[in-house]
Amino acid sequence: MRLMLLGLIITLFVSVSFLNKGNAGITSTFVRSEWPSTDIPIDNEAFAVPKGHNAPQQVHITQGDYDGKAVIISWVTPDEPGPSKVLYGTSQNSYEFTAKGTVSNYSFYKYKSGFIHQCLVDGLEYDTKYYYKIGSGESAREFWFHTPPKIDPDAPYKFGIIGDLGQTYNSLSTLEHYIQSGAQTVLFVGDLSYADRYTYNDVGLRWDSWGRFVEKSTAYQPWIWSAGNHEIDYFPYMEEVTPFRSFLERYPTPYLASKSSNPLWYAIRRASAHIIVLSSYSPFVKYTPQWEWLSEELKKVDREKTPWLIVLMHVPIYNSNEAHYMEGESMRAVFESWFVHYKVDVVFAGHVHAYERSYRISNIHYNITSGDRYPIPDKSAPVYITVGDGGNQEGLAARFIDPQPDYSAFREASYGHSTFEIKNRTHAFYHWNRNDDGKKLATDSFLLHNQYWGSSHRRRKLKKHYLRSIVEGIYID
Ligand SMILES: [Fe+2]
Repeated sequence: MRLMLLGLIITLFVSVSFLNKGNAGITSTFVRSEWPSTDIPIDNEAFAVPKGHNAPQQVHITQGDYDGKAVIISWVTPDEPGPSKVLYGTSQNSYEFTAKGTVSNYSFYKYKSGFIHQCLVDGLEYDTKYYYKIGSGESAREFWFHTPPKIDPDAPYKFGIIGDLGQTYNSLSTLEHYIQSGAQTVLFVGDLSYADRYTYNDVGLRWDSWGRFVEKSTAYQPWIWSAGNHEIDYFPYMEEVTPFRSFLERYPTPYLASKSSNPLWYAIRRASAHIIVLSSYSPFVKYTPQWEWLSEELKKVDREKTPWLIVLMHVPIYNSNEAHYMEGESMRAVFESWFVHYKVDVVFAGHVHAYERSYRISNIHYNITSGDRYPIPDKSAPVYITVGDGGNQEGLAARFIDPQPDYSAFREASYGHSTFEIKNRTHAFYHWNRNDDGKKLATDSFLLHNQYWGSSHRRRKLKKHYLRSIVEGIYID
């Protein structure tokens, strides 16, 4: 009898909570006086060329291995190849080590790129500040980066998430606010430079200007790249038909370390997170290389070592904006059941130039013959977050579908960036920060319980304080 009563009380709480949540989505009415969505002129100081003959420019780093003990450092020398080596060490002006890299260049229509250097620096110590120097003579330049803590389930770490950045004044505002956030690594969800909106030589020149534009962050911390549609670069009228050409020439990824066959999809582990990068514009249906790779990579995820499972893609799976509505449906049909099965914590996407966050929902019961065609609350499902709000020249996606679907928790058509701050194996703080007319304003935030450890935590608490824990778990997640 006691058990039956308890069951009844729990059911009541759960039902009321879901009802509340289902109707609690917020469509922000904030209207910002944005700067025009036009690119910053190419001669602006935001794209300044570093002084000195053949000085390295467009410096950027990304993780270079599976577990965070290596970086790939990339840069461009404009006039001649110059030395393709990195001097580095743990104290400034005293470089104990040297790594040798490679140099290449490419043509795009009549544009000829500078000399693109890529250098793997590996065998690094965890949790250490490294200084590095590239270039030669008086044109040499020095930077630094921090390696992450060693892989550990309770390693705290703060990621930033940026998408669809471009090179407008809004992009600059996003970038500067991000740098103030104190986050340690960027998870970039695709659409970098928007150089493909230009023609002929200007495509390459705007890839170059973007590389200089983001250097103030990318030279000092890894950006984990995923590719969007603006990386496709398919221009038959210029006889340029090799997809992803400019992106792949300039932005290497450590795909081999996760046994991927393609730089556009791969995985890394960093601190307490396992991060999976998917390609929305590469084949992903059953038996294709990306599908095969993901099926194997998900089996390798060890939540005892890396509790936080994060997926990046460009096209959102859940999006209630009129822009790009339903474009993610094909990937949802293929991968959503895996995300639920493996209890992915959060899926970050871009593409839609607005911000939106979902509740934990899934639609894996839907098929073309069933009538259950609406997403339902699902505690094993990821939170889906769209942050295509970096501030590019295409402007905001201001029209949301009305009424707001039950699965949508918060949405706002503004520019900004997000941070995902892991505290330990059970908890992480998430913030979305709006560019509020030049200022940064934390606008949407919530606390995540880890999908693996959080649920066992709840189970443990359940034994002691069963009712309290259930109510808390539902509201906090
Ligand atoms: Fe896009």
